[in-house]
Amino acid sequence: MNAITEDRFWDISMVVAFSKDTLVIGDKGKIPWGKCAEDLKRFKLITTGKLYGGDPCVIMGRKTYESIGKPLPDRINVVMSRNEEFKKRNNKPESNIVVCSDLDEIFDFLRSRDIYAPFVIGGSEMYSLFFPYCNRIFVTEFAKQYEGDTKFPMPQPHLDERSEWELFDEDTINDGEKPFRFYIWEMNT
Ligand SMILES: NC(=O)c1ccc[n+]([C@@H]2O[C@H](COP(=O)([O-])OP(=O)(O)OC[C@H]3O[C@@H](n4cnc5c(N)ncnc54)[C@H](OP(=O)(O)O)[C@@H]3O)[C@@H](O)[C@H]2O)c1
Repeated sequence: MNAITEDRFWDISMVVAFSKDTLVIGDKGKIPWGKCAEDLKRFKLITTGKLYGGDPCVIMGRKTYESIGKPLPDRINVVMSRNEEFKKRNNKPESNIVVCSDLDEIFDFLRSRDIYAPFVIGGSEMYSLFFPYCNRIFVTEFAKQYEGDTKFPMPQPHLDERSEWELFDEDTINDGEKPFRFYIWEMNT
């Protein structure tokens, strides 16, 4: 709980895929392991989930939005940027793209739409910014150690040591070239 979310119960999740040990999530604006159908399927299933009545909503940084290249369908896409020009060009609420300049604007928008369970989908800057508000992290961990310039900013051992975080629902997928593991961290409240 934080001053900005004191008004009611929020259920904010992060969804991340990273490389085991290196915690790499991106390289030169792209995902180092390329497409992984099983992971994308799970990502869609999680982020299109309708919780507590609000519309499904994903929150991302401007760089992640540009690397995806288009809004994700069937979800409200909240994009964070300090760039007013970018905001003018891209803010299209009628097409489910809402550009916000700061946290207050994001939370005001979410309240106005009764969205209390959004998904923060990256990148690294967004994970850092939203970590204090978040109570769940959906992780896809690729077994191969990919290199890259962008990392998940909260190392696993750090989470391990925090007694208020609990690990559960592990599932290992041996997908040939790209074996990976799914798991969920949840805040014990
Ligand atoms: N593996 C995964 O799960 C995953 C998920 C998502 C992304 N990625 C990868 O991560 C990389 C991008 O991550 P990133 O950390 O470099 O960038 P990012 O978090 O996607 O976006 C950063 C941008 O967000 C805006 N921003 C950040 N803090 C802000 C604040 N307090 N107020 C207003 N705007 C703010 C700024 O936009 P402006 O510059 O426009 O002001 C900033 O440049 C890419 O390689 C992508 O492929 C991986």
